[in-house]
Amino acid sequence: MNVDLPVLAPSILAADFSRLAEQIKTCTDEGIQWIHCDIMDGHFVPNISYGPSIVGTVREIAPEAFLDVHLMIENPDHFIDDFADAGADLISVHYETCPHLHRTIENIKNNGCMAGVVINPATSVDLLNPILPDIDLVLIMSVNPGFGGQSFIKRSYQKIRKLYQLREETGLSFLIEVDGGVKTQNAQKLVRSGVDVLVAGSSVFKADDIPKGIATILKAARSGSNRVV
Ligand code: DX5
Ligand code: ZN
Repeated sequence: MNVDLPVLAPSILAADFSRLAEQIKTCTDEGIQWIHCDIMDGHFVPNISYGPSIVGTVREIAPEAFLDVHLMIENPDHFIDDFADAGADLISVHYETCPHLHRTIENIKNNGCMAGVVINPATSVDLLNPILPDIDLVLIMSVNPGFGGQSFIKRSYQKIRKLYQLREETGLSFLIEVDGGVKTQNAQKLVRSGVDVLVAGSSVFKADDIPKGIATILKAARSGSNRVV
């Protein structure tokens, strides 16, 4: 997959939905290519967000954008084709919701999408070993999923470094994404720890000036590109 790393993926959960088209356009005008869509069902997570129709709307608003769809739902297999039809490029499911994860990953790929697996803060990276060769991306939650605006869980750095090492040792090429509490202050260290894709909701859409918010996070992230790990 040809993408300029690191990537900043604004999460529209924090956007003003009455001005969604305008706010997404503000992002793409700043060179943003990925848009992160948080799908919450009120069961797996204690919050309800939106469904395939809003993803379809984002696709209409930003036909060129890469839609990064994060499913925080029980029984994701029941909805994968709906999100693929709506225009998702990447569909990520939670390890904690998929007893038949290999089959679910096949289902995502058979729908023509890239496949990602997400792990909650308390879920170990080691559990992903068997599925890593089959996926395009691992998303490490740095907050407990369900809400924007939460504080970053510092132990996430260790999990990211471990996953980065695993990728180095195995020669695999999955991307490493982080989600939750990402800000200008931690962006550099996250990229230095091994992150390729940074999801940011409140630090983009709650910024006084969205373009400035994007520019400062990206500048910090790019300054971390000479990885140490
Ligand atoms: C939380 C979502 C995140 C959230 C990020 O469950 O998966 O994508 O919207 O928002 P911030 O960046 O405000 O933590
Ligand atoms: Zn998310």
